[in-house]
Amino acid sequence: MEKQVKRIGVLTSGGDAPGMNAAVRAVVRTAISQGIECVGIRRGWNGLINSDFTHMSATSVSHIINKGGTMLYTARSEEFREPSGRAKALSTCKLLGLDGIVAVGGDGTFRGALALSRQAADAGMALQVVGIPATIDNDIGCSHYTIGFDTACNTAVECIDKLRDTMQSHERCSVVEVMGRHAGYLALYVGIAVGATAVLIPERELDFERDIVDKIRRARLAGTTHYMIVVAEGAGSAMDIANRIHDEIGMDPRVTVLGHIQRGGSPTARDRETASRMGYRAVMSLMEGRGNRVVVTQDGRVTDMDMEEALQMVKPFPMERYQILESLTCRQPSLF
Ligand code: F6P
Repeated sequence: MEKQVKRIGVLTSGGDAPGMNAAVRAVVRTAISQGIECVGIRRGWNGLINSDFTHMSATSVSHIINKGGTMLYTARSEEFREPSGRAKALSTCKLLGLDGIVAVGGDGTFRGALALSRQAADAGMALQVVGIPATIDNDIGCSHYTIGFDTACNTAVECIDKLRDTMQSHERCSVVEVMGRHAGYLALYVGIAVGATAVLIPERELDFERDIVDKIRRARLAGTTHYMIVVAEGAGSAMDIANRIHDEIGMDPRVTVLGHIQRGGSPTARDRETASRMGYRAVMSLMEGRGNRVVVTQDGRVTDMDMEEALQMVKPFPMERYQILESLTCRQPSLF
């Protein structure tokens, strides 16, 4: 017979992402609606190691759906990578009487969750884990979408639109570096949305002549007097690209590294709504006896899948969007 779920923990781990609070709220409220108690574990997996937790009531998550960051704080825990760190975490789980944990974060968070669940099983404890994907990088193989991506895109677009105003006035070239770790999702989506002259992503090897010099030349011949180059951090440094533009084209570009501003801000409707559906699904998965799962979106539908399988999945990069970008930046020399 399935063990009845009476108490669960919820935590956020890894880099924060707008919408994490909405996910925590959904987990807590869904749990309470199902008669399950919920404990908030603070500072990611460190909270389990250091017994840093708090009781979550329905009102403890009031007015956080619109807030960026995470009310539970977050961390990347080195100690949790070691079996000894996880053993300490398991003692806390035992003390709290946790039947399951919902972990909101990225791949690293899910790997930690799976390792904890396995170590628990080896110790004769039943501890089920469910992951909710949240990262502005959108780089989690198993899920089409990760919480925070839409907000980060919108933040970057807003910043770049502002940059464009001044670049246009001064007839300058702007080189903007966006986050994304080793992936180019953020850069590509943002590049399309701002109508960038060129976008550099790690998924496509850089050919400076083809990807930058030629694009700027064509734009210039078509009458453009300012240029916007978006660089994914995984594709190289904006400063290096700007220096090459200076040396090879003779322009005097301005560099902006958007940095952590992309991780903050009030989550968009898309992130709040997705996080709410994912949080609900995570608790229902535990309730229905499906442990060691990751909640994912597939073509907009929220579902859950085996965590081990999920961790092995690789998401095909949407290169067709790069083709769209190429078509939309294609120029002809002006006739007038
Ligand atoms: O994974 C999210 C992310 O913001 C990446 O885009 C970036 O490379 C990294 O985290 C930055 O990490 P930190 O907050 O530790 O500087």
